Amino acid sequence: MADNFDLVIIGGGPGGYVCAIRAAQLGLKTACVESRGTLGGTCLNVGCIPSKSLLNLSENFHKAKKNFNQQGIEIDGIKLNIEKMMSNKNKSVQVLTKGVEFLFKKNKVKYFKGKGVLLSKNDIIVYEKDNKRQNIKASNIVIATGSVSTSIPGIELDEKNIVSSTGALSFDKVPNKLAIIGGGYIGLEMGSVWSRLGSEVTVIEYLDHITPGMDREISNEFQKILSKQGIKFKLESKVESINKKTSSIIINYSDIKNSNKGSLEVDKILVSVGRKPYTEGLNLTKIGVKKDKEGRIEVNNKLQTTVDNIYAIGDVIKGPMLAHKAEEEGIAVAEILAGQAGHVNYDVIPGVIYTSPEVASVGKTEEQLKNENQSYKVGKFPFLANSRAKVNNETEGFVKILADKSTDKVLGVHIIGPHCGDMIAEMALAMEFGASAEDIARTCHAHPTHTEAIKEAALAVDKRPIHF
Ligand code: NAI
Repeated sequence: MADNFDLVIIGGGPGGYVCAIRAAQLGLKTACVESRGTLGGTCLNVGCIPSKSLLNLSENFHKAKKNFNQQGIEIDGIKLNIEKMMSNKNKSVQVLTKGVEFLFKKNKVKYFKGKGVLLSKNDIIVYEKDNKRQNIKASNIVIATGSVSTSIPGIELDEKNIVSSTGALSFDKVPNKLAIIGGGYIGLEMGSVWSRLGSEVTVIEYLDHITPGMDREISNEFQKILSKQGIKFKLESKVESINKKTSSIIINYSDIKNSNKGSLEVDKILVSVGRKPYTEGLNLTKIGVKKDKEGRIEVNNKLQTTVDNIYAIGDVIKGPMLAHKAEEEGIAVAEILAGQAGHVNYDVIPGVIYTSPEVASVGKTEEQLKNENQSYKVGKFPFLANSRAKVNNETEGFVKILADKSTDKVLGVHIIGPHCGDMIAEMALAMEFGASAEDIARTCHAHPTHTEAIKEAALAVDKRPIHF
């Protein structure tokens, strides 16, 4: 006899596991099917969490080596123990994935370890280890199977020398020379890690700027800061081919504007040119679940697919491939299924790049507002004029607030600077409440904190900053 559930979620990443917990909280008999062997998906196992561990550790190493001496902290003989660093990262991952398993038990979510395949709109077969199978029945199904790395034609990933983010999180020694194809989130975070640990890093980017989609003024500043840190950029460059040699790899590329050719000899290549939805082997087409041209599952505004009891969330549908966006969608679906008004506000999804300094944004960019012919005002404030940033020697970057010209409503906030990955939450909250720049300017911010730069940028929208 097959087990019967109100809801079965396929995929135990941040979208799937959060959906499962919320559904169980709301009284639905819930199961989650996950094939990786551990919960948490790409984010916890081979994405956000291990990369943040390495970003933090490599930043500490870099600061100790480069900055401490000038700050009166004299330490001799700083050495990198990469094995220990990796084991530290692996332990954090292990504790957190086990934590999700504990939350499943606590909330009575049934966890099936295996690959889930749809047999019909209500039947799922789980292929477990040792050729075992289980049939389960579900009144409703959520597809939350995430995404996988893509590559470019002619470049095959071996996760040793030519790697995706997964391989770049586990190098056993610091590459002398690392080439990164693609100057987006992954390339710049992982490039920062290995550059701080001693690699000579070159980013090859197809476009004439890094981090497409980001406010251009911030993106330009970001590139300037990373260049000062030693990362090299080859923009408007197209990788043509690679030749593997015994102990190195040659990358041949051409300049898009003038077709000039160039080459680079490196130890390792990180390919970070984006990710694609992962829906292979689910049997979706046969069941009637439609996908768009980019392979994303089509959903309506209730996250329902073309089959009425099957929903989809996270990286398999449209929108930014971000863990917190998937979480919001997971909660929304669980609440919709429980008869509540689940909803995601796609206008207020923050994005953060965890480099040093961090880059964070929420809402519209200046380019988007121009394209939409929307009249806006800009307020900016540099961290150089923020006392806390000054005493901490972290003065790079600025806050930029975009507000509607007539109503003063905040339309977008873009920050490059210290701790802005945390600071952006205040701006997301402000935007959720429909705040004006004046509301932010009149909110008391503790002194001395980096957040005062936000208040000052809000004052600058009305051309009245105090400290600049
Ligand atoms: P991305 O979309 O952020 O960046 C890809 C970059 O590669 C773009 O700049 C693009 O112009 C460039 N590119 C594409 N084809 C190319 C080619 N043939 N040659 C040279 N450049 C090329 O993708 P990325 O960095 O792989 O990240 C994947 C996803 O993971 C993103 O959607 C991102 O949102 C997510 N992510 C989020 C993080 C965060 O929230 N901090 C961290 C890491 C990943």
